[in-house]
Amino acid sequence: MSILRAGIENTAGASVAGGVVALRFDGETLWALDQRRLPFEEVELPLCRASEVAEAIRGLSIRGAPLIGVAAAYGIALELIHDPSPESLERATTILRAARPTAVNLAWAVDRVHAAAVDGGAAAALAQARAIHESELAASAAMATAGADALAGVTRVMTHCNTGALAAPGAGTALGVIAELARRDQLEYVLATETRPLLQGARLTAYELSKLGIAHELIVDSAAAGLIAGGAVGAVIVGCDRVAANGDVANKVGTYGLALAARAAGIEFIVAGPTSTIDPACASGSEIVIEERDPGEVRQAHGQLLTLPGTACRNPAFDVTPAELVTGLVTERGVVRAPTRESVLALLPG
Ligand code: MRU
Repeated sequence: MSILRAGIENTAGASVAGGVVALRFDGETLWALDQRRLPFEEVELPLCRASEVAEAIRGLSIRGAPLIGVAAAYGIALELIHDPSPESLERATTILRAARPTAVNLAWAVDRVHAAAVDGGAAAALAQARAIHESELAASAAMATAGADALAGVTRVMTHCNTGALAAPGAGTALGVIAELARRDQLEYVLATETRPLLQGARLTAYELSKLGIAHELIVDSAAAGLIAGGAVGAVIVGCDRVAANGDVANKVGTYGLALAARAAGIEFIVAGPTSTIDPACASGSEIVIEERDPGEVRQAHGQLLTLPGTACRNPAFDVTPAELVTGLVTERGVVRAPTRESVLALLPG
């Protein structure tokens, strides 16, 4: 089954870049493009209960900070449609909040839907989930414009992990900015890191860039620093899973090294994310919980062992880049240069 169509409309009513629809809600079922099977198979998973949504998030069928927040929001609403009791609400909230620890968008969305449901039940939960979906779509569009404006003059960029329509409603975060640069005819090429261990760059970013018709080359993660030092790109642009109040940024493991290389080369290191990724309760990056995933993910690629089965492995899924290495934080409310506690918190309402 192919569900990829150019200019497809998703259920929240906005056109999705490249025809990739990662998540859609048809009024009864949440359909998620199973990202574990990309790029070779395009299969949608039907999800009807909170536990199914939580499992899809844990197993990375649904991934990317804004997208897991939206999915979890629908997950609570779906559960309440089946069982509107207060116990069911608390159960759904607990399992979804615990599905992954680092991306704050998940807890942010779950807490909003929980609050709506306490007052207004399933209907209010669904309305809140739809509102979050819509606002993340609008955020992607605004970030694309703001980020592309901030990168005026840059023609070659490097990106890490996957930050496009598979990771957020709409065009995405960093990849949305890249798509806008291409739309403006400003882009010569993109260097995409493969992003071990789960290869989000090789499997997902290359897939999205080819759907978008954007010139790109895939590189092994260890080639990145040398290419940056040699002047291959004018900017590194990445997404984020949690931005602490002081501007420290948690993102896919390997991001910190790219930021150091960008600083040494004197090029831009841009982080793009909606304000739902900012965690004002987290004073600095040292407070961010870094997800440790199964060591088996390091031992294998595509189910094939790469090392002896007994090799001990360590598998942090994210790392923290200090604010001082970030030259620009792109949000739907504008771009903050050299983020500080004051400028980051000023992006949030109230
Ligand atoms: O483990 P993943 O694939 O969910 O990690 C995703 C990232 O690190 C992205 O860069 C991040 O979520 C921000 S982009 C939407």
